[in-house]
Amino acid sequence: MAEPLRVGIAGLGTVGASVIRLLDRQAAALAASTGRAIKVTAVSARDRSRDRGVDVSAFKWFDDPVALATSPDIDLFVELIGGDEGPARAAVEAALGAGKSVVTANKALLAKHGMSLAQRAEDKRVALAFEASVAGGIPIVKTLREGLAGNSIQRVYGILNGTCNYILSRMELEGLSFEECLKDAQRLGYAEADPTFDIGGFDTAHKLAILTALAFGTQVDAEAIHVEGIQSITLADLKSAEELGYRIKLLGVAQRTDKGIEQRVHPTMVPKSSSLAEVMGVTNAVTIDADAVKELTLVGPGAGGMATASAVVADISDIAKGIRSAPFGLPTSALEKAPRIPVQRHEGGYYIRLSVHDRPGAAAAIATRMAERQISLQSIMQRHASARGARAPSDATPVPVVLITYATSEAVVREALDAVVADGYLAGPPQVIRIERE
Ligand code: HSE
Repeated sequence: MAEPLRVGIAGLGTVGASVIRLLDRQAAALAASTGRAIKVTAVSARDRSRDRGVDVSAFKWFDDPVALATSPDIDLFVELIGGDEGPARAAVEAALGAGKSVVTANKALLAKHGMSLAQRAEDKRVALAFEASVAGGIPIVKTLREGLAGNSIQRVYGILNGTCNYILSRMELEGLSFEECLKDAQRLGYAEADPTFDIGGFDTAHKLAILTALAFGTQVDAEAIHVEGIQSITLADLKSAEELGYRIKLLGVAQRTDKGIEQRVHPTMVPKSSSLAEVMGVTNAVTIDADAVKELTLVGPGAGGMATASAVVADISDIAKGIRSAPFGLPTSALEKAPRIPVQRHEGGYYIRLSVHDRPGAAAAIATRMAERQISLQSIMQRHASARGARAPSDATPVPVVLITYATSEAVVREALDAVVADGYLAGPPQVIRIERE
C-alpha cells in the first residue's frame, strides 16, 4: 500500500467535525478504494477547548491556519473556515503556493478568487477541489465536470440555498411571516453568519458562479450575475402562485442564449408540475438541460454537517487516488470571459401583481398599456375586495390584480408598467416575478 495521505483541516465547526467523523467511520473502505490510508494529522481552529463531539487530541494543533497550510506534517489542506478574504484566502493561497492540494467548501472564496486560485493550483500541478461548495451533499461539481462530458449544456438552474427554500416553503404551507421563518432557519443553523447572504440571493449567486464556469467553460465571474433576493415576496404572491398552478422558488439560472450566457438569481415562478416545484424545505435541487441526457435533476441536502462532509470526503478520496482534474474542467487559459447580459434583455413569461384603485377604466387602461407594447396576457385575475352585490370598492380599498404574460422581453414589461404607474390607477409599486418554463 502507498504512503498514507496526511490531511490537515482548518475550521472545526459542524462540517469540520463531521469530516473527522466520516474519515474515521469510512477509513477501511477508503483505504481499500484509494490504495492508501487517509489520516488526519493536524488541525486548526479558533478555540482549542471547545467540545466538538470528536476527539482532536491526537492531531497536531495550529492556532494559525496559514502555518497549518504550509506545514510539512500535511500533504492535503482542507479549508472549512469560510469567508472570501482573511484567513481562508491566506491559508488556501499559502497551501497551493507550498505545492499542497486543497479541498474547500468555500463558495464565497471561489466566486471571488476562483480564477486566481485555479491558476495557482495549475502552476503547482496540485488539485483544487470544491464539491462541497455548491448544494452541500449533491455531487453537482463532478456531475457537470466529468459526468456530462459528452453533452453540450443549454441551461443549469436550481434551488441552491436551503434557507430561502425553507422560508418560502413554510410561508406557503403554514401561512407564516417571512421574519418568523427566517428566525427558525437561523435557530436551526441553516443560515449564513450574515443571513442577508441567504435572503439577498448572494449565497445562491456564489454557487451559480461556480456552476456556470463548469457548465459552459467560462471564467468564474459573480459580478456578471443579476441578483435579487426573496425579501419582497409576500403571502399574497405565494397564494396567487398556488391558484395559478405555480410555486415561488429562489432560483439560480445560467442559460445559453443567442445573446450569450445569461446568469441570474431571483424569486421565480415554477410550474407545480416541475421537478423543482416539489422540492420543499432546506433541500437543494439542480436541473441540467443538455443535448444528450435532455433533462437531469439532482435533489438532496444542501446544507448540514454530514451532507457537506460527504462532499469533502469525496474530494479527499479523489486526491488520494491521484485524480487531479482542472478545477473548472478546462485549463484556466481556455476558460472564456462571459460578459454580463443585462436582465432587461431577458425574455420569458412574467407574473405581475398590481394593487389597483378599483375605478371604472382601470383594468382597460392596464390592458391597453400591455397591448400597446405587444405584450400578450395569458391570464388576468382580479380579487373582489367587497362582498358579492355590494357597491364597487372605493380608492381606500385597492384590489389585487394579477397578470400572467406570455413570453416577452423584460425591458418591454418594465416600460408598460411605468406607463401603468403614470396612469395613476395603482396604490403601490407593481410586483414582478419571472416565470421559468421547463
Ligand atoms: N446558508 C446556506 C444555505 C448553507 O442556506 O443553503 C449552505 O451553503
